[in-house]
Amino acid sequence: MNVLSNDEINHIRGSVNIVDVIGEYLPLTQKGKNFFGVCPFHDDHSPSMSVSSEKQIYTCFSCGATGNVFKFIMDYEHISFPEALKKVADKAGIDIAIGDFKKNTNTRFQSLYDIYEVAVKFYQNNINTKEGKEAKEYLRGRDITDDIIREFGIGLSIKNREMLTKLLLGKEFAHADLLKSGLVVKNEYGYQDIYYNRIMFPLWDPSGKVVGFSGRVYHGEKEFKYINTKETDIFKKGELLYNYHRAKEEARMKQSVIIMEGFMDVIRAYTVGVKNVIATMGTAVTKEQAGMIKKMAKEVILCFDGDRAGAKATLACSNELLEMGVIPKIVRLEKDLDPDEYIKKYGKEKFLAKLENPISVMDFKLNYLKQDKDLSSTVDMANYVNTVIQELAKIDDEVMREISLKKISQESNLDLDFLKARLNNLKEKQEPIKEVPRVLEVNERPSKYQKAEAGLLYYMLRYPEVIKMYQKKITYMPTDRYRYLAREINYFYKNYQSIDMADFITFIGEDQELLKTLGEINRLNLKEEYKIDEINDYINVILEYNIKVETARLKEQMKRTSDPFEKANIAKQIVGLKMRRDESD
Ligand code: CTP
Ligand code: MN
Repeated sequence: MNVLSNDEINHIRGSVNIVDVIGEYLPLTQKGKNFFGVCPFHDDHSPSMSVSSEKQIYTCFSCGATGNVFKFIMDYEHISFPEALKKVADKAGIDIAIGDFKKNTNTRFQSLYDIYEVAVKFYQNNINTKEGKEAKEYLRGRDITDDIIREFGIGLSIKNREMLTKLLLGKEFAHADLLKSGLVVKNEYGYQDIYYNRIMFPLWDPSGKVVGFSGRVYHGEKEFKYINTKETDIFKKGELLYNYHRAKEEARMKQSVIIMEGFMDVIRAYTVGVKNVIATMGTAVTKEQAGMIKKMAKEVILCFDGDRAGAKATLACSNELLEMGVIPKIVRLEKDLDPDEYIKKYGKEKFLAKLENPISVMDFKLNYLKQDKDLSSTVDMANYVNTVIQELAKIDDEVMREISLKKISQESNLDLDFLKARLNNLKEKQEPIKEVPRVLEVNERPSKYQKAEAGLLYYMLRYPEVIKMYQKKITYMPTDRYRYLAREINYFYKNYQSIDMADFITFIGEDQELLKTLGEINRLNLKEEYKIDEINDYINVILEYNIKVETARLKEQMKRTSDPFEKANIAKQIVGLKMRRDESD
């Protein structure tokens, strides 16, 4: 198989300019040597992302997001490294095939992805055997055809709880990885499959890889309708939306995305040709998910279950989106029906008509807040007006506000100007408190040593001679995350005999922790050029720390030994350390 080497990958990266590429996604303006834009990776309105043409990297000075051109495209489009590489290669006019190197990247959690690949096939195979007859009947009863079963990778876990575990062990996966995958459990019987007797719905990450399952009961006990895979290294519930990877293109084309609660609703909508649809899977929408939705399409339609819980979830999701500056539209279904039931009961045409005629989020809120209230009672009316005005303050749209105020004015017989004044008053008071994302934890003020470590790393990332100085003098950085970064820099330098930050980022790959540390270092307010005295100061501070720690360890060791020779030996070592410290002063 033809595998791309690191050099070839770096060559592809070097064939485009990151400023041009990011400039295709968001407006950039030049300030001095660098370009600036509004960071798409956190909720922001001011241009805090800097893009360096010289270093070919970007860094957000607010949230710390940092990376090269591959990383930007991966995170912006929620695609895998090979896909981002392919895009960049296309821009550069270099011809590569994704399949060529798929297996060679993402090695960190590769065994978990591989386990899921095996599991999906296993479950899918089961449903087509004799044991799958009942499950197939159940699905047929829900109008789910064989085509849909295939399209959504639906499968079956069977009664025997050993089968998947045996299959995986036979393929020489480690026991530890089996447990980590969330598909296998260790109990009094040994290692067993977690899922049995359930219809298995694969869950995909944003790039389309299977990273979890939802298993549904299809006969007998109703207690746990669905069992979802636990969070793992590759399955992060708060960053996943059901059917995202499949709906993304369609949503972009139609400039509209529909959000539902259940994945069965999504599957049903798909059967009637509505494909720009995703599901939250019954949990509150997180900031990450809201951010993903925002990037999918201009028009966002919430089509949740018709019951009370669905209305409540609609309100919560709307507010999360509004905070991101997205004004959603709302579809409410009658008679407590969910989209799946609605389509089954009223048919495709009526459902499509519903989607064609969503209501505004403000009208939804007015209706929602009115329920259970008796507006002829003064107390209820006052409550209603007050909460509505609070909700209005969250919407950043003058026209919609004006229309809504008029409506409330009519309903309440209160003067329009009075209502406006209330709203303005409230808006001034509750200017949203912007949470500034920080890399350092609140209680973690950088110590003298940490500042020295960070400063040293800053210049190691820029100058090979600083890496050499580090290698000569320092063997150990006190802080875990800095030590880890230093080790990777050294390793990179050993391979390439140079340091290039953009290629280093490719080298780091999917290691989020390391990228976070790198972002933290890049945000330091230090000059580009270093002074040799400054580097020496950093090194001495770190050495002093190491000597202190080592001396303390030796003293402790000395206390514990009764052997006089051993004691003398340790004492000699301590004196040696002391001399080293004096030398470095
Ligand atoms: N859910 C879950 N665990 C449950 C119930 C629900 O994880 N016990 C999640 C599922 O992801 C489901 C979503 O919440 O897709 C919506 O729940 P619900 O409306 O109850 O599911 P339906 O889509 O109506 O599923 P079905 O039609 O199969 O009953
Ligand atoms: Mn349902």
